[in-house]
Amino acid sequence: MIKGKKIAFYVTGGIAVYKAVDLMRELIKRGAEVRVAMTPSAGQFVTPLTFQVLSRRSVSVDTFSEEDPSVVNHINIADWADYAVIAPLSANTLAKLANGLADNFVTSALLATAKPIFAVPAMNANMYRNPITQENIRKLAERRVTLMKPDIGFLAEGYSGEGRYPEKERIISELELFIRSNQTELPLEGEKVIVTAGGTRERIDPVRYITNDSSGKMGHALAVEAWKQGAEVILVTASPLAVPSYIHTIRVESAQQMHEAVLEEFNDAAAVIMAAAVSDYTPETRETQKMKKKEDLTLRFKKNPDILKDLGTKKTAEQCLIGFAAETEELVSYAKQKLRDKHADLIVANDVSQSDRGFNSDQNEVTLLTKTDNPRTLTLRDKSEIAGEIISWLINYID
Ligand SMILES: Cc1cc2nc3c(=O)[nH]c(=O)nc-3n(C[C@H](O)[C@H](O)[C@H](O)COP(=O)(O)O)c2cc1C
Repeated sequence: MIKGKKIAFYVTGGIAVYKAVDLMRELIKRGAEVRVAMTPSAGQFVTPLTFQVLSRRSVSVDTFSEEDPSVVNHINIADWADYAVIAPLSANTLAKLANGLADNFVTSALLATAKPIFAVPAMNANMYRNPITQENIRKLAERRVTLMKPDIGFLAEGYSGEGRYPEKERIISELELFIRSNQTELPLEGEKVIVTAGGTRERIDPVRYITNDSSGKMGHALAVEAWKQGAEVILVTASPLAVPSYIHTIRVESAQQMHEAVLEEFNDAAAVIMAAAVSDYTPETRETQKMKKKEDLTLRFKKNPDILKDLGTKKTAEQCLIGFAAETEELVSYAKQKLRDKHADLIVANDVSQSDRGFNSDQNEVTLLTKTDNPRTLTLRDKSEIAGEIISWLINYID
C-alpha cells in the first residue's frame, strides 16, 4: 500500500520527534519516496541533519531559502506528494492548520496541499483534552484531514494520560487503511477473499495438544496483500500472530473449527486461499481433565475434515480455490497430484525441509502450479512479496 507512494513527511515540535525518525525510515523501507519538512521547533528536538542523512534528501525548514529558482519550494512539495503525513503533530501546528495559518514552511506547504492529509497528534493530556484543541481537531476532521487518536499511556511529564504518540505498528496500519480508502478502482474491490493461516492445534487434554511448525506468517501476509488490492478479507487463523485491525479476523484452534468457519463464509466468497497447515488427524477422544502420568501411553487418532478437498467439491466455476502444498520431497509431483485431487485452481508448493524458508521463516521460495500453465518458481524472497505475486495471479484469474 505504501510502496511507490510519494509522501511529504511533516515534522512539528514535540517530544515524540525522535520517534518520527523511525517512522520515516519505515516508510522508506516499505518503498515510499519521502521528502521531509520540519518546523523550526521540531529542529530543537532532532536536527534536520538526522532526517536529511536518513532520507538522503535535503530537509526544508525555511520558507525563504529558495535554492532551486525554477520552483517555489513549499508549493512544489505540496504538489509533488501523493499524501501528506504529519508526525508528530503539535497542538500549536494543529491550531494553525485549523485556522488556515501559513507562517512557516510546514504550515505554508500544508495550506497549499490539495492531497489527502494524515496526521499523528501527540501532546500532553491536558493540551489534548483542552476544548480548544478538541474544537481544532473537529474542524480539521470536517476538512477531511485524517487524525489518529493518540494512545493513552505514560507521558513525558511523568504521568499517564491521553496524548501519547502511538506505536509505529499502529501508525503504519492506520496509514495503510487511510491510503486504501483514498484509492479508487482497486482490482479486488467488491470481492470477498477468505484466507486461512497457522498450524491448527488438536487438543489431547485441557493443557496439551499436537500441532505443526506453521507460524501463520504466509497466510497473514496473503490477507494483507488481498486487502491492499481492495478485497473484503476474512482471515481464519490458528496463529497467535497479531493482525492489522482492518482485517476481519476469526481466531480458531482446531481443524474442525477452521472447517466450520470457512464453510460459514464460503458461499459468497470469490476466492479461498488455504495457507493454513491443517492437521490431518485429531485425537479420537479429548480428555476433559489433565491426564495423569502413566507407565506408557497410546493415543488413537481419527481423520480431520479435509477442508481443501471439501471446498473443491463445493465450489462453483466462478469461485477460485488456492491451496498450499508443504512438502519435504518430490515437491512438484506431490503438488500436481494435490491440484488434481482437490480440484484446486492453483497450488502453491513449498519445500519445508530447509530452515531459511517455509515454516516459521520470514522468507519463502515457492512453485506455482495450475492446470494449464507450466510450473513457475518464485525464488527465495520475503513472504509479503510472495503473497503479492499470488494475489496478482488471483487478480488475473478473476479477470
Ligand atoms: C520539552 C518540550 C516538549 C514538548 N512536547 C510537546 C508535545 O509533545 N506536543 C506538543 O504539541 N507540544 C510540545 N511542546 C511545545 C511545542 O514545542 C511548542 O508549542 C512549539 O511552539 C510547537 O511549534 P511547532 O508547532 O511550530 O512545531 C514541547 C515543548 C518542550 C519544551
